[in-house]
Amino acid sequence: MKRKRATNGAARPLTIALPRGRILDEALPLFKRAGLDLSAAAAARAGRRLVIPVDELGLRVLIVRDTDVPAYVEHGAADVGVAGRDVLEEQDRDLYEPLDLGIGRCRMVVAEPEGRPVDENSQVHLRYASKFAEITRRHLQARGTVAEIIMLYGSIEIAPLVGLADRIVDLVSSGETLRQHRLREVETIFPVSARLCVGRAAAKLFGDRIDDLVARLRRVV
Ligand code: PRP
Repeated sequence: MKRKRATNGAARPLTIALPRGRILDEALPLFKRAGLDLSAAAAARAGRRLVIPVDELGLRVLIVRDTDVPAYVEHGAADVGVAGRDVLEEQDRDLYEPLDLGIGRCRMVVAEPEGRPVDENSQVHLRYASKFAEITRRHLQARGTVAEIIMLYGSIEIAPLVGLADRIVDLVSSGETLRQHRLREVETIFPVSARLCVGRAAAKLFGDRIDDLVARLRRVV
């Protein structure tokens, strides 16, 4: 019984969940250098198709929201995924992360208004705004800082300007958004790049094919 299932599993395409946006733009050339031409995925994406079979490689590509990649992979709806360290750390799911792809580079930082620095030792009630509530919680815990976390879904840089928060925890790439809003970086929590993630069931079912994928990508990152 077990054997039959494994055979059937090996016959079906390996499913890869890729996040739309900048990571996808950087991932496609990387996969191509690794000998995996997924340009059909880019063309299909332009045509609004989100499930793309790449039969010649025995693959199927799913184009999903970046924050949804770990759920697809953890539940086995995709065997492999590409997700930023920010998303992976925030969700902290049960996944293998065999390879850092070195794309989608930015950093997770704490920032505050240039003209209103926070005194962490004062007894005032501090508020941190972020899309990354869990990363913020762990950061505050590690620092021994007591603060309220205000969960937002975007445009985080506005929060300190309008009195919603004292500080923010957010991604910084060029630094332009911080500059535009007169915010200064207080500290980097960790550098971010996109990683390959693999589900536990997929690692068992498709171990050889996933090892081959990782080896090909490792040669070009
Ligand atoms: C991200 C991030 C910052 C900005 C940083 O936002 O949250 O706001 O990019 O980039 P920069 O350092 O190059 O200016 P995104 O564009 O994803 O939009 P969001 O604010 O709605 O999350």
